[in-house]
Amino acid sequence: MSKHANRNHWLLGAAVFAASAIAVQADATPSNDDLFRQFFDAGVRYTQALDFPNRIGDLGDPVNGQARFGIAADGVSSDDSQALFEGESSIAGTVVSNGRTCFTCHRPENRLGLPPLPLTSTIPLDDVLFTGLESDIGDEPLGLVNFNELGLLFHRANRFNPLLPPGDPFLKVFFWRKSQPLINIVFTFGALNDGRMRELTEAVRGAIFTHTQNTDLRFDDLAPIQDLRDMSAFMESQIDPPELAALLDPDDPLHDTLLDDPFYTVNATTPAEKRGQKLFAKHCMSCHNMPNVFSNRDHVDGNPLSFPPHYGHVMDIGVSQRNKHDLEFRDFDSVTGQRVPVVLKLVKVDGTIVEHTVVDDIGVAAATARYEDLHRFKVPQLRGIRHVAPYFHDNSADTLEEVVDYFTSPWYNHSADGKKKQIHLNTKQKADLVAFLKIL
Ligand code: HEC
Ligand code: HEC
Repeated sequence: MSKHANRNHWLLGAAVFAASAIAVQADATPSNDDLFRQFFDAGVRYTQALDFPNRIGDLGDPVNGQARFGIAADGVSSDDSQALFEGESSIAGTVVSNGRTCFTCHRPENRLGLPPLPLTSTIPLDDVLFTGLESDIGDEPLGLVNFNELGLLFHRANRFNPLLPPGDPFLKVFFWRKSQPLINIVFTFGALNDGRMRELTEAVRGAIFTHTQNTDLRFDDLAPIQDLRDMSAFMESQIDPPELAALLDPDDPLHDTLLDDPFYTVNATTPAEKRGQKLFAKHCMSCHNMPNVFSNRDHVDGNPLSFPPHYGHVMDIGVSQRNKHDLEFRDFDSVTGQRVPVVLKLVKVDGTIVEHTVVDDIGVAAATARYEDLHRFKVPQLRGIRHVAPYFHDNSADTLEEVVDYFTSPWYNHSADGKKKQIHLNTKQKADLVAFLKIL
């Protein structure tokens, strides 16, 4: 099929799916997959306005939320007196907490993320962090070592999805993910490393079911919506630097200033930092485009992307395909002791079904079952980034130097979204960019 035939085919498809789909620039010689991907991405609204459609805001009480989260009134120490989810559930029967709270993995002194690695260097093996691990990993033999040494937690994306029949391969697909620092998440769209949760209350409910007891049964009645909102409001209140809060309030005098000057709260002073800021604006802000926060501000809007709604723009930048830690993605069968590949049926936007054997972290495709979503992850915010190494969803970059090296590597430049925004920097430019990232 000629390039033009491809393009016509794509435009026809676009007309059928959504008359309002905006035209996007095709790459020089795009493949059919690329064209569908771009059609698919045409549902993204590149907005200059700021709105946060899924924000909890005043619906929740952050003070109660902090208590339910497991953080004492002093804001730093652990207090589980109101943070254990247990009791009689009409769905799951008697639920007994394993003693873990949100604090267990999201610690205030670590910007609400995990302590340094290996975890056993500061956390004893008899801490609930480890004694409750079975609730996450089940009988996965690599669960403890990957968590302790790499900070990566075994996760089954659809573990509590009530719509999937027993035996469905989507119930088996799993990831190894870092525990995200929960700073400035009010400025990100979609929760978790792949953005698969549309709003924070969903993420909180999932976290309660996942980490606090061993079965795959839900107990929605022990996690009332008001508690989920309160915990979400607490997390939304974790804003750093504090003046970024003005982005949430169009009436705040600082609001427009923060929008108009994306670096207003960043103090680049040395020549290297200033050069680094320019490089960042040129190469990184096509994706990290939320002013002063540097998450992604694009909205996914309406048809043909009716599910999932209002995601930020999740991207495939090649991190999971690199699989730097050589992580295992075949399911462990505890009866036979063998590893079995997980094979999923994914739907392309043209309706074709593809059998996909999982060999790496498939990203948000595990939740959407869409082929075009393979390996797509949320664009994280970057404030205070110097404090939260290692980087990426699989903790595959130990330093900011390694992050910048990654973005100039073939892994990035050949990835589905990276190849549209290729990055090439010389040694001096890389050093300048790192100098800038260190002041964020
Ligand atoms: C055992 C460790 C552990 C515990 C306990 C834990 N989390 Fe997490 N948290 C994680 C991991 C790992 C991820 C990333 C998961 C992923 O990407 O699939 C995460 C991600 C999140 C996110 C997404 C943040 C973002 O930027 O998108 C939220 C919100 C969150 N956790 C809230 C909570 C809450 C609320 C609790 C308590 C009910 C909790 N977590 C308990 C490990 C933990
Ligand atoms: C094509 C979109 C895109 C571009 C361009 C881009 N990023 Fe990212 N960035 C992402 C995505 C997506 C992730 C999350 C990847 C993952 O975890 O697998 C990410 C992750 C990061 C992280 C890790 C954050 C964390 O908390 O672990 C840093 C740091 C970062 N980017 C910096 C940069 C810099 C510096 C540039 C420019 C040289 C840049 N990015 C360009 C999409 C992009």
